Amino acid sequence: MLTRSFLSPSSSKKFLAYSPMLHARLFIEDPKYRASHFEPIRAPLPYPPDPVHQSLLQKSDLHLDGHPEKDRPLFVQFCANSPDDLFNAAQLVQPYCDAVDLNLGCPQAIAKRGYYGSYLQEDWDLIYRLINKLHKGLDIPVTAKIRILETREKTLDYARMVLSAGASILTVHGRQRHQKGHNSGLADWTVIRYLRDNLPRETVIFANGNILRREDMADCMSTTGADAVMSAEGNLADPSIFAEFPDVADGREVWKGRDGKCGYRLDFVFRKYMDIIYRDVLGVPAPVRTQLYLPGDVTPQDQAPPDSQNNPSASQAPKRDRRGRIMSPNLVSMQGHLFSLLRPLLTKHTHIRDLLAKSRVGDLLAYESLLRMVEEAVKEGLIGYENSTAEGQSDNLERNTGATTSGPNEKDNTQRTAAEICKMPWWICQAYIRPLPQEALEKGSLTLGKKHKNKLLESKPEETVVILQPGNSPQCHEPMDHEAEDVRINKEGLVCG
Ligand SMILES: Cc1cc2nc3c(=O)[nH]c(=O)nc-3n(C[C@H](O)[C@H](O)[C@H](O)COP(=O)(O)O)c2cc1C
Repeated sequence: MLTRSFLSPSSSKKFLAYSPMLHARLFIEDPKYRASHFEPIRAPLPYPPDPVHQSLLQKSDLHLDGHPEKDRPLFVQFCANSPDDLFNAAQLVQPYCDAVDLNLGCPQAIAKRGYYGSYLQEDWDLIYRLINKLHKGLDIPVTAKIRILETREKTLDYARMVLSAGASILTVHGRQRHQKGHNSGLADWTVIRYLRDNLPRETVIFANGNILRREDMADCMSTTGADAVMSAEGNLADPSIFAEFPDVADGREVWKGRDGKCGYRLDFVFRKYMDIIYRDVLGVPAPVRTQLYLPGDVTPQDQAPPDSQNNPSASQAPKRDRRGRIMSPNLVSMQGHLFSLLRPLLTKHTHIRDLLAKSRVGDLLAYESLLRMVEEAVKEGLIGYENSTAEGQSDNLERNTGATTSGPNEKDNTQRTAAEICKMPWWICQAYIRPLPQEALEKGSLTLGKKHKNKLLESKPEETVVILQPGNSPQCHEPMDHEAEDVRINKEGLVCG
């Protein structure tokens, strides 16, 4: 909803959201799991599905997930290894979404243990049965998300099988299963292009990976020939990534630097997020807020604390389980979302990071205090920038990572790094540039077995080069080559899918 809030109503209809991956068996077996992950109606979602109950639902019974006006189009994604479980779970969600997606990309250790996600990719018979059961039995389409395999030819055969089972859309994450966490490296768009060129023209393909900024989307579409792009980390870091370039006329929401770079201010986006939580999740009015600070304001007003009537603990208490834990998926996700959104600011203001880390689920007053601290920090950043000379700008434009992902570009002598191109002041929404494996290895955040470490360190820079020009996206010239078993990855680097 935050991402949609940056889009016009017509663009919002072209924007497709996916639910987080839900575990199909838990979804049907455990009412608590269901309630804490998917809330299409205010009452608990009954299992088995009850068509009578469904037909009696009023508009006011609907909550957020798949809401016809707020959250469509929406695909609900599952992981599964039993066609029956997947079908039963899919039947439960189909009234509230536009398609059901099967995640065949999750690379996490837990997916290996539970036998789902990318760990099914060798079991084509099972994948066929999972997809085909939904294709034959559901009222809405089934789609699938895959990772690329070791060769483009094998990936093509795999894609053909998934499509022959009945998948209506194929999302292709251009990384292999072992490319995760600090070993993510770059997605290989050339494999997606190969699929485009060799699958029937009418096949709908979504490309995923390497989308850092809005400029990368058109580049990805033209390079891969895909029908759409999917973004995860880029969208979490900058929820405006799918929107048009911001209108710089309003400096209170959008910042524009002396070099012409512009983006949304973090205090503005944080406010927008909080207001959605109040209005749509808790059903209370958002606090009346003072204007965002702008240098030149004659008397910058102190931010008034929010109206205490809007304290959710006083008005509309969120649902809790028997142990008193808040179940709302929207409140549970706040901390993680804010870590992704505020990352550049938190790197500089570590006391705010520490407070965010301590914030308890549903403690909206604590989040309001954090918001005021973020507003103060942004104000300080803006004043510092105004006072800095052109040469001094770099002090305010600290890179948001230690990544150096540049390589020689024969056409353009001005070698630029991904981090430099995406670099914004720390108070502006921006992509996080994950270090490439070689850099992560040098920094100690990635550990490899001896054999693979030597291989990686010996590799010439050209072998893992990224060429990033303004308006262009990173291109992986040579995929990394090491075995999953040899890579030990810090937990914080793991993502799902
Ligand atoms: C925090 C986080 C959660 C994710 N959860 C899912 C998920 O539930 N299902 C899925 O298919 N992919 C998931 N992914 C993976 C992304 O969909 C995507 O394949 C991957 O991050 C590469 O794309 P990106 O470069 O746009 O982030 C997740 C990624 C992140 C960062």
